[in-house]
Amino acid sequence: MGTVSMAEARARRDSIEDRVQQLLAQMTLMEKVGQMNQVQAADYHLIHQEVHGAAIRAGHVGSIINTVDPQEIRDLQRVAVEESRLGIPLLFGRDVIHGFHTILPIPLGQAASFNPEIVRDGARVAAAEARAVGVNWTFAPMLDVSRDPRWGRIAESFGEDPLLTGRLGAAMVRGLQGEYLGSAGGILACAKHFVGYGASEGGRDYSSTNISENELRNSYLGPFLAALEAGCGTVMTSFSDLDGTPASANRFLLRDILREAWGFSGFVVSDWESISQLATHGLTEGPRESVAAAANAGVDMDMAGGIYLQHLPELVQDGVIDEALIDQAVAHILRIKMALGLFESPYGDSEGRAPALPDGQALRTAREAAVQSVVMLKNAGDVLPLQAGSLRRVAVIGPLADAPHDQLGTWVFDGRPELSVTCLEGIREHLGERVDVDYVPALATSRSRDESAFPEAVRAAADADVALLFLGEEAILSGEAHCRAHIDLPGSQEALLRQVKATGTPVIAVILAGRPLTLTRTLENVDALLYAWHPGTMAGPAIADLLFGVRSPSGKLPVSFPRAVGQIPIYYNHRNTGKPPVAQDMVHIDDIDPLAPQTSLGMCAFHLDEGADPLFPFGFGLSYGRFYYWNLHLSTRELPADGTLEVSVDVANEADRGAEEVVQLYVRDPVASITRPVRELKAFQRIHLDAGETRTLHFRLSVADLAFYNRDRLVAEAGEFQLWVGGSSSADLQASFRLLESRELQPSDAA
Ligand code: GLC
Repeated sequence: MGTVSMAEARARRDSIEDRVQQLLAQMTLMEKVGQMNQVQAADYHLIHQEVHGAAIRAGHVGSIINTVDPQEIRDLQRVAVEESRLGIPLLFGRDVIHGFHTILPIPLGQAASFNPEIVRDGARVAAAEARAVGVNWTFAPMLDVSRDPRWGRIAESFGEDPLLTGRLGAAMVRGLQGEYLGSAGGILACAKHFVGYGASEGGRDYSSTNISENELRNSYLGPFLAALEAGCGTVMTSFSDLDGTPASANRFLLRDILREAWGFSGFVVSDWESISQLATHGLTEGPRESVAAAANAGVDMDMAGGIYLQHLPELVQDGVIDEALIDQAVAHILRIKMALGLFESPYGDSEGRAPALPDGQALRTAREAAVQSVVMLKNAGDVLPLQAGSLRRVAVIGPLADAPHDQLGTWVFDGRPELSVTCLEGIREHLGERVDVDYVPALATSRSRDESAFPEAVRAAADADVALLFLGEEAILSGEAHCRAHIDLPGSQEALLRQVKATGTPVIAVILAGRPLTLTRTLENVDALLYAWHPGTMAGPAIADLLFGVRSPSGKLPVSFPRAVGQIPIYYNHRNTGKPPVAQDMVHIDDIDPLAPQTSLGMCAFHLDEGADPLFPFGFGLSYGRFYYWNLHLSTRELPADGTLEVSVDVANEADRGAEEVVQLYVRDPVASITRPVRELKAFQRIHLDAGETRTLHFRLSVADLAFYNRDRLVAEAGEFQLWVGGSSSADLQASFRLLESRELQPSDAA
């Protein structure tokens, strides 16, 4: 795509409407339906050319998914542009979820950085590498608010908070597309999966979702509006059914919300064959009815199903579907292709040949993203950072220490394991010849139960000054359709940890996983624990920087960690209930008197065997810094309905070294026309403080920041509000203020 200035992009947008209508007027019905048809690339070049060449030449294909062969893409685009009647260029789609060849941390790990800039920079790297082969459309950001670690796709999400998900999703859109559609270096982004997929029942992928309208509007929709406000050009429907209506046939979502309320002018693509699946859901009799339902609901393009091409023409000829509806869908698609500059520059940057390997900037961005994504969950006795100068021997143990494939995580179709710098390699590189590094995998995979190599691991630990254990999940254990009912460390990893701990050597665990795991037992057997998610290509240098103190851990949890899988769903922004948990009422199952009478136990919202709190709350993360908060000040205690609240707080780092901190601001609306969460993240700032440095931070809250949906009304209601600032969602530095009068707002006010 060409390089256009903002002014040129705006001028182009104005002329685009004319060009769309002029082109539409020339198109036959089959050519129109062809634009609504995305086909999957065949595996074999020749078959590919023959099958798709004919269809493309006939104008029956609008997009191709899953070819990344530069020559193949160029050949197919040439057929479309030079040999079809109208020469409409193709969109070439590929999942570039957290990197193309250079892999960034999984999105859940990137979310732990609480840093929109690093997410944007990573997406820019991904877009550049994808464009180099000819890919011009990707299916990211994934914006499903995720509260269930059993669900494999939590790995692709930005976690449980709507504000964080929206901010990082918008940053990823800007990184992928550039500051506006058609700007240099960009590829088309796609906000997915619209909407509520993260609420899949039981944490089982593709399962039903039952979400009230208030919950939908207050928890799940916001991130998508934020992504569209950032200019995201496409939206993908979710596989799941929402309250009985699958998203790919849901007029309320696709027309009432997306088009009417939000004014979305891009196009909607189904998920993979999700139109065909409407019959499987039990919504339609068969393919013809499924096509009618999806087209009427507002799905503009059929991903890989071939079902629009097969049935839409006859549905129009039979008068079941009005051709005006087809024209509307095709206009959405043509508008985006024109805004991308595809007609002017259909081949983008690609010269049709394999691009050079990732450059230094890509790897530096991947390394920085990995450093910022790691969350330190324990550091007993300040055992970290390790002082390399005082070490004689280090034991590196575990199935994920030298795992170039698994450290990349899920959804890395085009990742290059040969580029990976593993944790073992990073440690060896950092220590050089100064320190002996004794490496014992101990288990062949994260799922292995073969403990025959444990004695070797125990010996290595016994002979070392410190044992570094790299544990967690292989990449395949998270991602689409990869859900787990138990979320402990798989296989015999806990047993390995116990045996290493028994040597008495200090134990530091680094966990690589695609979801929160239940770590209660693990924590008992480690002196320190770094949670690295799946950190991507540059895992090794990043982990070494953190272990040896070159950098301080700065990640904060984007999702709550349950003590036990039975607590799920457990998340910080829950509502209060009529009987909230009270510490003294929560009798532990082991402390219950025999024959205890019915009402003798705590009558409040908790579990007898696990209490009411997560193991670690949203926003939590330790640091080598020592941060203190005080002097929380509000510009007023009485906020007018058109006012702005200025908040300031002093933060100090009282450690003897510099470090980063994510300062978080939470608000509660304790009395409202519907019950509201006990806390909601409303702002955050990532800062660096030198040793001994104190800084005054400023936040600004608008009345829109206090608003919520009561069904379809967005309102900020008069009354008291509570506010906290600190380093996690359990911050206790508090202030309160009153909103003097209620106010109704528009959706765009809250994006
Ligand atoms: C998958 C996923 C979706 C992905 C699409 C194309 O089934 O649900 O996230 O973008 O198909 O691969």
